[in-house]
Amino acid sequence: MYSGTGNAVASKSMAYPDETPKPAPEPALEELFEEARQAALNAYSPYSGFRVGAALRLTNGETVTGTNVENVSYGLTLCAERAALVQAVSRFGPTIRIEAAAVANLNDAPSPPCGACRQVLAEFILPDAPVIFPAEGGVLTRPFSALLPLAFDMKTKTR
Ligand code: THU
Repeated sequence: MYSGTGNAVASKSMAYPDETPKPAPEPALEELFEEARQAALNAYSPYSGFRVGAALRLTNGETVTGTNVENVSYGLTLCAERAALVQAVSRFGPTIRIEAAAVANLNDAPSPPCGACRQVLAEFILPDAPVIFPAEGGVLTRPFSALLPLAFDMKTKTR
């Protein structure tokens, strides 16, 4: 059982207390989740010991994974989701779109994508893309738009 202290919001809301049991995720999503788990094996997390993996399925049919890469300065740590996203753009270019995402960890703990990763994913992910992640009480799947409603989106004209 996860017993981390977490932050104030997480400790209140990560339990998803009003969740009714959901049907099992589609097989392809379970495979994506397993790919995220595999990616977590490569985690570089000597400071937290928390090993996270992310897998992004792109609309071009490719899947890209990433893991967290920590840094002694702590603040320069890269999350698994952003590592995967950076790799996806680096390999396939700026027009990629993410149609499904998975986050997993090897610590048997909840790990929904953090707020920063949600904002970064918002740049490339389809609003209806399912996101599968470990939460308190089990693995959840949510459309991305439910994870980051009202995402910042600059509409300012540049001239
Ligand atoms: N971490 C991720 O990889 N993804 C998230 O969405 C949140 C946190 C990593 C960063 C750090 O290496 C460790 O988990 C503990 O916060």
